[in-house]
Amino acid sequence: KHCILLGAPVDEGQRRPGCLMGPAAYRVAGLAETLGALGHSVEDRGDVKPAPGRGETCANNAVHHLPEVIAWTEALAGATSAAMSDGFPIIMGGDHALALGSVAGVAAHAKATGRPLFVIWLDAHSDFHTLTTTQSGNLHGTPMAYAAGLPGFDPFPPFPAPIPSGNICMFGIRSVDPAEHAALEATDVEVNDMRVLDERGIVAPLREFLDRVRAVNGMLHVSLDVDFLDPSIAPAVGTTVPGGTTFREAHLVMELLHESGLVTSLDLVELNPFLDDRGRTAKLMVDLVGSLMGRKVFDRPTRSF
Ligand code: ARG
Ligand code: MN
Ligand code: MN
Ligand code: MN
Repeated sequence: KHCILLGAPVDEGQRRPGCLMGPAAYRVAGLAETLGALGHSVEDRGDVKPAPGRGETCANNAVHHLPEVIAWTEALAGATSAAMSDGFPIIMGGDHALALGSVAGVAAHAKATGRPLFVIWLDAHSDFHTLTTTQSGNLHGTPMAYAAGLPGFDPFPPFPAPIPSGNICMFGIRSVDPAEHAALEATDVEVNDMRVLDERGIVAPLREFLDRVRAVNGMLHVSLDVDFLDPSIAPAVGTTVPGGTTFREAHLVMELLHESGLVTSLDLVELNPFLDDRGRTAKLMVDLVGSLMGRKVFDRPTRSF
């Protein structure tokens, strides 16, 4: 693959400064080198630079940094859709508000190609708030609702080609606010919370979802939030939630995604290097990208169980 690295030092989607150092940490942790060693070509396009904010406001006073996040959304949508035309974009965050833009860019590209777009959301959180429902006012809690085309996003640009909710599948979920819960119940989003993963394991529901993507020749965007992982292995995140996925589950997800051959773009979000322990979280995230992009110990026949 031709991997295109896009730095997205977004820090305005939450209140704990540090995610803006994420792109630098991925570069230091050897993301490009890891991809190169797997036989991919790598083009680092540097960090995306948003235009100055235009002073937009909304009715919910809790919302903060709205103009800055709108500017990021526009800049990242453009950079991501351009990168989709040229290769496989990897958006190095930055907090999860970056997905307002990256998924918009991917959706615009998918619409132009006529292929259906699917999203796999690997996260402790559903990030299914609107500007109206968020109580924290942290816009990193909103991108999935924006991409699903929910109302309540004025003055954001309208989402290009909203993603049918049945094309959205979440894994690792263990923190959902009441308003998000109500909104999710009204959709066909597939929420594989930790209860599901404990009972069924991660493989069966993931294979079912991948089969659905394959059946319609879909494109698949992966959004990987650091807090998908258990905080004991991935401490460098502002929103830790206990009971996350293990090292082995996370690599297995990445290996199955690789074997599917369906993944067309990737977000790496919420890494806060200021909270890390000697780079271990950054290195783990880079290793997970390695598994997603083809690293394996031995070749196994797919579907051997
Ligand atoms: N639901 C909570 C909120 O709206 C947490 C969101 C966490 N999101 C994230 N991308 N880490 O504040
Ligand atoms: Mn500020
Ligand atoms: Mn998130
Ligand atoms: Mn999260």
